[in-house]
Amino acid sequence: MFYRITRLFLFKFSPERAHAFTIKFLKFFSRTWLDFFYRQELPNRPVECMGINFRNPVGLAAGWDKNGECIEAFDAMGFGFIEVGTVTPRPQFGSEKPRIFRLLKANGIINRMGFNSVGVDHFVENIKNSKFNCVLGINIGKNKDTPIEEAAKDYLFCMEKVYEHADYITINISSPNTANLCSLQYGENLDQFLSSLKLKQNELSEAHGKYVPLALKISPDLNNEQIAQVSQLLIKNNIDAVIATNTSLDRSLVRGMKHSNEAGGLSGRPIQYRSTDIVRCLHKELDGKCQIIGVGGIDSCVSAREKLIMGASLIQIYSGFVYHGPKLLREIVENL
Ligand SMILES: Cc1cc2nc3c(=O)[nH]c(=O)nc-3n(C[C@H](O)[C@H](O)[C@H](O)COP(=O)(O)O)c2cc1C
Repeated sequence: MFYRITRLFLFKFSPERAHAFTIKFLKFFSRTWLDFFYRQELPNRPVECMGINFRNPVGLAAGWDKNGECIEAFDAMGFGFIEVGTVTPRPQFGSEKPRIFRLLKANGIINRMGFNSVGVDHFVENIKNSKFNCVLGINIGKNKDTPIEEAAKDYLFCMEKVYEHADYITINISSPNTANLCSLQYGENLDQFLSSLKLKQNELSEAHGKYVPLALKISPDLNNEQIAQVSQLLIKNNIDAVIATNTSLDRSLVRGMKHSNEAGGLSGRPIQYRSTDIVRCLHKELDGKCQIIGVGGIDSCVSAREKLIMGASLIQIYSGFVYHGPKLLREIVENL
């Protein structure tokens, strides 16, 4: 009820303004008695994944809290884990505004944010100043002006900076809004890229006396043959988890709707079916050798369960959270 009214208010503004307002509100109310507006006591649904214990399997997907500013608030809502980022080595503005669009009829969103980020140093300060109890994933990316041939350098740089603050690290090579980024998902490029990340992980794990698992985030626009190839390389390079999926360039399910022609990645209900099918495909190919985190279009307890039944150990929400608020998290966790 409370979120329905809040949504009426928020949806009067452009998506980016509404988002900025929400971040300000959450930051301001955190650690005060006013957090009762969103604080929820949820039942424990413990799960183990990548060697980490989660209080429940439902996480906040990357991109909501790009700069790690509201971790306490999401912790108070009861998320089992929060993935902050994508963070880039240096600060960058991202794409020109407007760059987020609501597809109300489809419960979808198109975004072309382009990795707006305060940069990894400021980001790490934000994390250090946060107090929270849930698992923290840190999602890393590359700067726009780093040539794609040198992309690995940006990821290795961010890995070093965030390693000691993360419970797991996500490697985002599937955003459609950074030129050529998705080319890292294929063949020899991917193999070399993953092996350099794995080397760095071994090095950092020795230096810090702590093993931080790596998760690769992939696109829903890969076909089944490409999923099979990615799976082989995940196994070969001993990557701990795969996150399926990011946003999609496919518009077949939203054609003709307002904003459907905007450039960017589509998320929300229109990608639900494809991302669940990718989870199924990964489950078959990976044979338990790499964990799966399912994300894409989850907007109910049923769609959450589908991802888990198809082989995901954990799930994440983004667009569903925009449309339904913290009550969606409650509904899923209570009914698991
Ligand atoms: C406005 C917006 C910004 C996003 N930013 C990021 C990001 O920075 N990094 C990332 O890995 N995914 C990002 N995503 C993708 C989400 O994490 C998620 O993978 C995708 O939206 C599918 O989930 P959903 O259908 O529940 O929204 C973003 C999504 C949206 C809508």
